[in-house]
Amino acid sequence: MKRGAAASPEVCALRRTRLAEQLARHGGGVAVLPTAPERPRSGDSDHPYRHDSHFHYLTGFDEPQAWLLLDASGRSTLLCREKNTEREIWDGHRVGPEAAPATLGVHDAHPVEALDKLAAERLANASAVWFPFGLHDGLQARVDGWLAELRTRERSGVQPPAMQRDLSPLLSEMRLVKDESELGTMRRAARISAGAHARAMRYCAEHFRGGSAGLPEYRIEAELLHEFRRHGAQAPAYGSIVAAGANACVLHYAAGDAELRPGELCLIDAGCELDGYASDITRTFPADGRFSAAQRELYELVLAAQQAAVAATRPGARKQDAHWAAVRVLSQGMLDCGLLDRRKVGDVDAVIDSAAYRAFYMHGTGHWLGRDVHDVGDYLAADEDPVEQPDGLGGRVVKRPSRVLQPGMVVTIEPGLYVRPAEGVPERYWNIGIRIEDDAVVTASGCELISRDVPVDAREIEALMRA
Ligand code: GLY
Ligand code: MN
Ligand code: MN
Repeated sequence: MKRGAAASPEVCALRRTRLAEQLARHGGGVAVLPTAPERPRSGDSDHPYRHDSHFHYLTGFDEPQAWLLLDASGRSTLLCREKNTEREIWDGHRVGPEAAPATLGVHDAHPVEALDKLAAERLANASAVWFPFGLHDGLQARVDGWLAELRTRERSGVQPPAMQRDLSPLLSEMRLVKDESELGTMRRAARISAGAHARAMRYCAEHFRGGSAGLPEYRIEAELLHEFRRHGAQAPAYGSIVAAGANACVLHYAAGDAELRPGELCLIDAGCELDGYASDITRTFPADGRFSAAQRELYELVLAAQQAAVAATRPGARKQDAHWAAVRVLSQGMLDCGLLDRRKVGDVDAVIDSAAYRAFYMHGTGHWLGRDVHDVGDYLAADEDPVEQPDGLGGRVVKRPSRVLQPGMVVTIEPGLYVRPAEGVPERYWNIGIRIEDDAVVTASGCELISRDVPVDAREIEALMRA
């Protein structure tokens, strides 16, 4: 499947130049990067094709069976499928090696069948071979094959690279800070997803306004998918969660055939992929457009936690500050509303130290967002020494501190509360699951929430559903 618009050849060339400079800074060598394989679904049907994110970032090329060779001097070589009239009738247009340099801005291009010969040639006497470790089945063996082939030529003065190095950390660091064209695409993706959430809210309101009974989750999911595609998004960025009532307490629930009923909450975690970039939004709303007292109480608490996390998402703050800000608000709220018993767990500091809050909030508050929904990039500061810190499970751990945020990074901010029926837990909260998730671009002074075209305030959600 065509994955939509790609960055311009000039932008991709600039990214390759920056990567080549990194290779040079780290001792030189040659980078070898395949795109993703096609994956059979059954018989002769494949899963919809999706390029490798690193590869597409550097090439803008979305055909399968393609490789990039890049050396530290900046020379880029693409290997791709040859033109083939018969196959193009069945599968669609191929760029082909002849047109690839002009189309994509690479220095040269060859049929993919030439890979083994060409890779061995480029790696002869190179100081290192760089490739993503552990991401592509069979790649290590392929590289070993090239090195073995070079070793047979040692007597004629050919040296295989003395080092194999992981390419992923260099690319992940580059991808972590988004440029303006990437941010533009991510804003558009978030806007489409926000529209889909608003559409789902309206759809539920209409359904229940007519006095109808249950509404299957899959029908709500269909509204999301319709909205994604009709605005040009290529696919959901991950499996959509549409959870009716108690299903919201299953964190990785997928939209199924359970029925949403009046009086219940509906949790939707869904976002589209647009032109290779993900969005990731969660909203929780009352099926029939009106929060009950208990639902509203917990909703306001999660929203307050999110607001605290948003305030902590700014340049100079650490990635994990948002999490601890949310945890503090949630923990205090759990004590105040009786989800946690002060006599048993102590005050808010004790709740945080012991991780007692994990009974109702057991996941992190956000992740990098970009080409992948859980995007690449180190979560810890590379240049700081390990320190003792909470492990988030009630213990302590020694590790590098959380990394400092900088403009251009994109994170999700997604606190939640999930209350399963249990002894000692006030019954009015049973089976309530709430998460609120927005996408935030770190700016020069704070963060920009790019997913707020769907309301998040309880009264605004109710107003939208009344309209
Ligand atoms: N939708 C996946 C996540 O929120 O992390
Ligand atoms: Mn998320
Ligand atoms: Mn999500």
